[in-house]
Amino acid sequence: MVDRDSWTPPPTPTRQHQSRVPGAMGGSLLLDLPQYAPLKAELAAFIHQPGPLAVEIGFDHGITLLDHARCFPTWRWLGVEIREKQVLAVRPNAPDNCLPLRLDARTLLSCGLLHQRVDRVDVRFPTPALNGRHLLWTPAFVADLATCLRPGGVVTIATDVPALARLIEGLFAGWKSVAAPPRGAALSRRERVCRRDGVAVWWGSFGLG
Ligand SMILES: C[S@@+](CC[C@H](N)C(=O)[O-])C[C@H]1O[C@@H](n2cnc3c(N)ncnc32)[C@H](O)[C@@H]1O
Repeated sequence: MVDRDSWTPPPTPTRQHQSRVPGAMGGSLLLDLPQYAPLKAELAAFIHQPGPLAVEIGFDHGITLLDHARCFPTWRWLGVEIREKQVLAVRPNAPDNCLPLRLDARTLLSCGLLHQRVDRVDVRFPTPALNGRHLLWTPAFVADLATCLRPGGVVTIATDVPALARLIEGLFAGWKSVAAPPRGAALSRRERVCRRDGVAVWWGSFGLG
């Protein structure tokens, strides 16, 4: 169990190849493996449908992903989560405008399919990783977010880990602070816990400057 108040960012390994991203499930090369061809095709077909596209990273039980897909039916909601059990539980409940996938967010953002196609990215309570290999919040990840966003696109992040909020603010220093996009009424699991226990939550919404 991570102590959220005393957590500090672990050192992150540098990329040996700028175009290759390490990740919990095989990194940016994962979708090029033959056994992942069906998943890649499903992802490409979803991305190429018309209408605005939102991505939720680390959807866990899918509470906000499914709520948003139902509240905003003209948007497509692509969710990625690395825990298989969660993905298998959420998938049967996803409406047509929602695609929950078991995929590392770093693999998704660096695979090339999302280039300038994303209107919104939500990351609620990202894991305060203890191992630098698992930490999302690196300059490379934020550069990949910038590559995937369409002009006017917004990245929204929530965390109750003070040092993570400071790290994220530093990484987005070159972006502009923008209004938070509309949201549904459902609270994510961690959001509920924070509200119940009176834990302060930092929210940031950023657009390209
Ligand atoms: C602290 S939980 C927060 C879950 C949920 N968003 C909430 O607000 O309750 C972080 C989630 O991110 C997922 N996660 C961690 N690293 C990830 C990655 N690289 N790509 C996708 N999901 C990731 C974890 O499995 C976990 O479900």
